[in-house]
Amino acid sequence: MRFFTGELDENRIIDVLSDLKHRVFPRPFERLSPLRGAQGLVGAEIGVCGGEHALSLLRTLEPDRLYCIDPYSIYETYDEGRSHYGIDQTPLDETEKKARALLASHADKIVWVRRLSSEAAVEIREQLDFVYIDGNHAESFVREDIRAYWPLLRRGGVLGGHDYYNGFQSEHDGVIAAVIEFAVDNGLKLKVELPDWWIVKS
Ligand SMILES: C[S@@+](CC[C@H](N)C(=O)[O-])C[C@H]1O[C@@H](n2cnc3c(N)ncnc32)[C@H](O)[C@@H]1O
Repeated sequence: MRFFTGELDENRIIDVLSDLKHRVFPRPFERLSPLRGAQGLVGAEIGVCGGEHALSLLRTLEPDRLYCIDPYSIYETYDEGRSHYGIDQTPLDETEKKARALLASHADKIVWVRRLSSEAAVEIREQLDFVYIDGNHAESFVREDIRAYWPLLRRGGVLGGHDYYNGFQSEHDGVIAAVIEFAVDNGLKLKVELPDWWIVKS
């Protein structure tokens, strides 16, 4: 496998090693989860993309049901997506196909919801044990996701997500701002083990 092409830049090496770590081991959200080993879990992932992390959730937490929520479309306010995928729908259609193929062996556990997370939230008619937020990382979207999915969580359930870092890259600043705001406003204990954050609903 070739990881490095072109010049070796120290930030690139660190990014690749960090990515590699999370491909080999489950991310902290499921690895350290108080739900690990529990039976009959129902959860959701917001932002599924190629399905790699959904697969990790399915393997590590072994839920009975996982809502896989992703519109797979470039909607008007999705600036991050436009810079990542471009303006053409084709890469997103291919990503969705890739995710469905990767997750095919768990198809009986998955409920695909091809919608924006805000629309999907009103369609889920059961309590959730966990929600992992990794969709649109703009502050207003993360804030909206947290506020829409928190009420769906049962007591003892876990709400969390990805990309709780900024450093010199500012593209994920909004995640940190929205998460801290929610925790402080509601007097909740925030847990962080990079690159994930989570809050247990007591
Ligand atoms: C960073 S990727 C997700 C990566 C995935 N969680 C993983 O770790 O394997 C972000 C995904 O969020 C989706 N997305 C963007 N806006 C969304 C929204 N409002 N609701 C749900 N998903 C959204 C995009 O289509 C994209 O596939």
